[in-house]
Amino acid sequence: MTAVHEWWRDAVIYQIYPRSFADGNGDGIGDFSGIIHRLPALRELGVDAIWFSPFYVSPQNDAGYDVADYCDIDPLFGTLDDFDAMMAEANRLGLRVIVDVVPNHTSSEHVWFRAALAAAPGSAERERYIFRNGKGENGELPPNNWKSMFGGPAWTRTINDDGTSGQWYLHLFDTSQPDLNWENNDVLEYFDDVFRFWMKRGVSGFRIDVAHALRKQAGLPDWGDDGEIKNIGPGGTVAPAWEQPETHDIFRRWLRVLREHSDETMLCAEAWVNPPSELAKWVRPDEMQQAFNFVYCYAEWAPAPQRTVIDQSLDAFGAVGAASTWVLSNHDIIRAASRLSLPYPEGGAYDLIPGLVFDEALGRRRARAAAMVMLSLPGAAYIYQGEELGLPEVIDINPLERQDPTFARTNGERLGRDGCRVQIPWEQDKPAYGFSETGKSWITQPAIFGKLARDAQQGDATSFLEHYRHLLSVRRQHGLGAGSLTWNATARDDVLSYTVNDVTVIVNFGTEPYAIPAGEIIAASASGISSQLGTDQAVWIVA
Ligand code: NOJ
Ligand code: CA
Repeated sequence: MTAVHEWWRDAVIYQIYPRSFADGNGDGIGDFSGIIHRLPALRELGVDAIWFSPFYVSPQNDAGYDVADYCDIDPLFGTLDDFDAMMAEANRLGLRVIVDVVPNHTSSEHVWFRAALAAAPGSAERERYIFRNGKGENGELPPNNWKSMFGGPAWTRTINDDGTSGQWYLHLFDTSQPDLNWENNDVLEYFDDVFRFWMKRGVSGFRIDVAHALRKQAGLPDWGDDGEIKNIGPGGTVAPAWEQPETHDIFRRWLRVLREHSDETMLCAEAWVNPPSELAKWVRPDEMQQAFNFVYCYAEWAPAPQRTVIDQSLDAFGAVGAASTWVLSNHDIIRAASRLSLPYPEGGAYDLIPGLVFDEALGRRRARAAAMVMLSLPGAAYIYQGEELGLPEVIDINPLERQDPTFARTNGERLGRDGCRVQIPWEQDKPAYGFSETGKSWITQPAIFGKLARDAQQGDATSFLEHYRHLLSVRRQHGLGAGSLTWNATARDDVLSYTVNDVTVIVNFGTEPYAIPAGEIIAASASGISSQLGTDQAVWIVA
C-alpha cells in the first residue's frame, strides 16, 4: 500500500474568479479560453493548485453562486470541452484543480425550483426546498423574522397560478437563491452525483460554499428582535441558520463519496465559524480536510491578536489532526492591501460601507509583511487573484456597473463586493490592461491598475509580484508549510518572532526600529532592510 499524499496540508492554492481573470473572446467577461493562456503565469508564480469560483450554468444574479445546472458550464465561460482543455493544461503544468460546489441553495432557475413553484404545497417537489405557510390571518407575514445576508427579508412569497399569494420560501441570500432542504433524500443523492461528475473530469477537490448553513434549527425559530442572522447573539450564540450538529453527517457522507474515487481528493469548508476550536470540528478525520481560517483573516494587525490567532489555529486544527489554512483575502472580502490600513474595528469589517478611508501606502506595507507571516506558517495558504499584484479595493465604481446583489438590496447602504472583483491587469499598455483584447470589461478598471499590471511588475525586485514569487519559492525550499512553529522571545512586546524549520520570522508592529539579530536575511517585506526592521516590516532569516 502506498501512503496517501495529503497534498492539501501544505499547499498554496490560488483562487481564480473566472469572470475577472482573463477574457478570451472579448466580450468583457473572463472565460476558460482566456484562463488557459494565463495558467503558465500561475506556475511561474509557484502555486500548487487553483480553486475556481463557480463557472456553472447560472443567471449570474450572485456572480455564479446561483447555480441552475451543477454539471455544465455557463456559456459565458465556455463549454465542458473548454473545461477539459483547461484541465489538460493544468495537469501539464502540474497544477491541481479545486472547484466550487454550492449546496446550500440553487438558483431559482434550477429545474427543481421551477418544478417546486409549479407543484402544490406539500408536494415532493416543494420538499426539496424550504417552503412554509406564512404567519398572520392570511399567511401574509413571513414564517420567521430572518433577514437575508444580502439585506432585506430571507423569505419570498410565491404567487399561485390563479394570481393569489401562496407559500413562502427561504433564501439566506438573494431571492433568486432558494435554500435547499438537506433533510431531503433527493438533495443528498443529487450532490453525491455532482461530486462524482467533477471527480471524473479530474478535479482534486471541492470548496464548499456556506458549509455551515446546510441544516437549520428545527422549527426555524425567530432570531432576536431584528432577525439579523449574521449577528452573534448573547453569550456568543449563533443564529439558528448556522452550525447545526446534523451538518457533520452530511460531510461524512461526502467524504465517503470522494473516497470511492480517490484518497487524494479533498473538501474545503467555507464556514464562518468562530472560535477556531469550533471550526476545527468541520475538519475532523472523517469530515472535511480544510476550512478557511477567516478568524485569522480578520485578526487585527497587532502583535497580541496575531499571536493569539496563530496559536489558537495551530492548537485547534492540530487537536483534530488537520492542518490549518491561512487566508488574507477572497472575492467576498475587502482587498488586503486596502483592508489592512483600516483601524479596528473597521479592519475586521466584512462589508465595504460608504465613507471608509484607506491609506494606500500603509495598507501595502502591511500587506507585504502579512504575506510573510501567512506564507511562513505551517499549513496551507490561499491566495486570491490579484493579491500577488497588491491590487487595492476599488471604491469608485459607477453604481450602474455594480452587480453584487448586496448593493441593490440595501439601497447602496452597503457597497457590496464588486470592488475586490475588478478584472486583473496583465499588461500595462494593452486595452483593459490585457484582460480582454477588445478593451471590454464588466467593471471599468481604475487607472492605478496600469502600473500594477503584471508585466509592469515582472522582473522588478521591489514589486509585489516578485515579493510573492520569492516568498513562495523560499517557502517551498525550506518546507515551511509542513514545518512546526516555535515562538522566540523578543525584547519588546510589539515585535513578534517565531521559527519554522530553519527559518526565523520577525515582524515589527511597533513604531521604533528593531535591531535584526544575526543571520542571513533570505526574504524581506521591503527593499533596503539590512540591520533594522522598521514599522510594519518583516524579515525571514536563517542562522
Ligand atoms: C459565499 C460566497 O463566497 C459568496 O460569494 C456568495 O455570495 C455566498 N456564499 C452565497 O452563495
Ligand atoms: Ca469572455
